[in-house]
Amino acid sequence: MTVNKINNIFSTQELLIIDSNIKNQISFLQVDQENNFKSYLVNNGWGLHQELGRLQLGNIYLPNKITKKITKIINNLLNSNFKLDHIVYVEYNKKYGKPSLKPHFDRDNSAVVVDFQLSANTSWNLGVDYDSYKLEDNSALIFNANEHFHWRPIKNFKEDEFVKMLFFRFYNLDNKKSYENLQEFSSSEAVEILLEILSNPTEHKIYEKIKGLSIYDAIKQIEDNQQVNLFDNIKKYENIFTSEELKFFESILDQYDIPKVNNNYINSKDNDGVGIDQALGRLQFKRFENIPDNIREKINSIAKTSFGSELSLSNTVAVEYSGKYGKPNLPPHFDADDNSLIINFQLSSNTSWDIGLNLKLYNLENNCALVFNPNEVIHWRPHKIFTNEEYIKMIFFRFTSFNDKKYLNLRHSMDHPIFKETNLYRDKLGNT
Ligand SMILES: [Fe+2]
Ligand SMILES: [Fe+2]
Repeated sequence: MTVNKINNIFSTQELLIIDSNIKNQISFLQVDQENNFKSYLVNNGWGLHQELGRLQLGNIYLPNKITKKITKIINNLLNSNFKLDHIVYVEYNKKYGKPSLKPHFDRDNSAVVVDFQLSANTSWNLGVDYDSYKLEDNSALIFNANEHFHWRPIKNFKEDEFVKMLFFRFYNLDNKKSYENLQEFSSSEAVEILLEILSNPTEHKIYEKIKGLSIYDAIKQIEDNQQVNLFDNIKKYENIFTSEELKFFESILDQYDIPKVNNNYINSKDNDGVGIDQALGRLQFKRFENIPDNIREKINSIAKTSFGSELSLSNTVAVEYSGKYGKPNLPPHFDADDNSLIINFQLSSNTSWDIGLNLKLYNLENNCALVFNPNEVIHWRPHKIFTNEEYIKMIFFRFTSFNDKKYLNLRHSMDHPIFKETNLYRDKLGNT
């Protein structure tokens, strides 16, 4: 047995009893001068757990009538002789932080936990291992939280949305196991990527590869790849270059002397693409050819893995978007050139600007790249007003395939109907 689900556990009368008991105990919670609940850390697990976006009461009292009933249900269901150890109440709400639950194991001595949904005005699945389950009010999932990792899909709670839960923890009278020494996961970053994959399994090819693995192996697999397959033809790579390699790129940009006319950078159109492009709100640097072998190998390998066969690097261009170069703007478009792949690499920035690929937004961090075919994927950036101080430096590595595909026929104007849906979507997002 991994997971059991039971519905309609308590009667209306019993639910009222539970409710009034909880209300009574919440009224004893400590608050600070601004009337906010104090952290659970200073009061034995009772209080605000901001990191998880919830209020929690670590060990609450409920009348015998309630605890006896749930104990009987569980022991009948599992044909066991478990004893109720303690009950935890939690209330997820945006006002307590951002509700979230990354994949984890509990580390206690409970043999089984009953994750009971008391009430909610929104739906938030509960994941156990690679499956996720819908919970209704007055229903519960029953599983061993020390042996099965559990999580909640990524969800942005709206104002006033809440999910109230009770965790009944049972231990096994005959076999008291302690799980306190359970191994920690090695990387919190990989756990976050894992949560993104679990939350949107159909969008990540890697889901099929890791499904069924132990969480340790899944995390290792994610770390080894450091590559997230977002869609079949869109990939994201993180932490690509070492700090030495990053310095190489920064120094190249610093050393470039872009000609100036009357103290303003030259217009790129008058200088073979090098200079300011006011319409795009960016400064464009000269293409650079002298790339050290280690860097070249890295980008070639990313291109090959992403595309599935050998490609050849056709050019490398660096740009810097900033309010001081105009109004950064990138409407939906195809590149309409003869390249089959672009590594859209973010070198450095002091602000964030998502990238739109078809009808989806992708977050990009420094030392991170989105890889796609710029002639098959409509790409764009959301509207954003940059200040003169804000900047984003990008490097575009473009690759061509040997079968000599030409995409020059894609040279559509920005108002071509093919971009209509994307433009509508982009405009609806407003300024980000
Ligand atoms: Fe847990
Ligand atoms: Fe482009």
